[in-house]
Amino acid sequence: MIRTDPETPDVYLTPVEDVFVRNHLGPHPRLDTDTWSLSVEGLVERPLRLDFRALEGLPQTRFTAVHECFGNPLHPTVPTRAVTNVEWAGVPLAEVLELAGPRPEARHVWLEGADRGDFAGESGLSFLKDLPLAEARAEVVLAHGMNGEPLRPDHGYPVRAVAPRMFGTNSVKWLTRIVLAAERPEHVFTTRLYTRVLPGESVVRPVREKDVCSKLLAPKDGGTVPAGVRELAGYAWSSGEVTAVEVAVDDGDWLPAELERRGPHPSWQRFRLRHHLAPGPHRIRCRAVDAAGRVQPLTGDRNAVHEIRVTAVVNG
Ligand code: MTE
Repeated sequence: MIRTDPETPDVYLTPVEDVFVRNHLGPHPRLDTDTWSLSVEGLVERPLRLDFRALEGLPQTRFTAVHECFGNPLHPTVPTRAVTNVEWAGVPLAEVLELAGPRPEARHVWLEGADRGDFAGESGLSFLKDLPLAEARAEVVLAHGMNGEPLRPDHGYPVRAVAPRMFGTNSVKWLTRIVLAAERPEHVFTTRLYTRVLPGESVVRPVREKDVCSKLLAPKDGGTVPAGVRELAGYAWSSGEVTAVEVAVDDGDWLPAELERRGPHPSWQRFRLRHHLAPGPHRIRCRAVDAAGRVQPLTGDRNAVHEIRVTAVVNG
């Protein structure tokens, strides 16, 4: 752990009430643990339906992960900076797949929520996502808890999928149906929206692994701070480990910040730089680099460098 100035709030775990809510299809469906069930069907040896008690009886896991919204799929390059870090509790999808027994021709896992509604000119939609079977088996957790409490209705109660290294859109809430299939599903949320061409590539890919990104949380954007040596701090994250964060004040050089190592979980990593702020207005920026060598772009994409403005004042 890196040290933190007492003046800087450290919000390693985002309180549940501060976690953003993104519902594409209107209000959340009314489900509860007594009536909820999950069907596992398609290319499986043993199609099954699990109720909540059966899910509770399977091996449980608990881990911390960045929960980040990709942004508006109709404006995929616009940064929204909706990001949190939460602790999930649930059952590895692998345990449920083991019970159902995927057939050899199964290649993809479709995850469907119970919500229904209209989006982007299409009506009567369900929220459907898919992942390659190997990735889903290795990573996805069927979560029923967030930060030590049952999921709240808006966050997918009683059970949602969580794909920890991926954007939040892959973490299907109110999960009630899993289908194993040979193909990807054609659907507004799988093949029409939430797709993109990554920098330096020409193929269209589904929005899955998180980008390298960082966010300044202290000082507060738009606020005033006492002039002098201040801590400039925030969090950085990526689908892999972040290896460096740099901070620039006004037109100064990019300076290396102190950076916490990532632990065993795909959580965010704290960074800080102590820097002298002279009286007057300042622009502060941060940018992260990850283990794959990806760097945040200065402008033009959803993970562009984060910038805040503060005014340093002389007290008394
Ligand atoms: N799951 C269902 N069933 N319906 C949805 O609209 N929204 C997705 C994902 N899972 C969604 C969903 C999107 S776009 C995001 S960013 C995350 O849920 C948001 O999760 P949260 O609302 O718990 O923060």
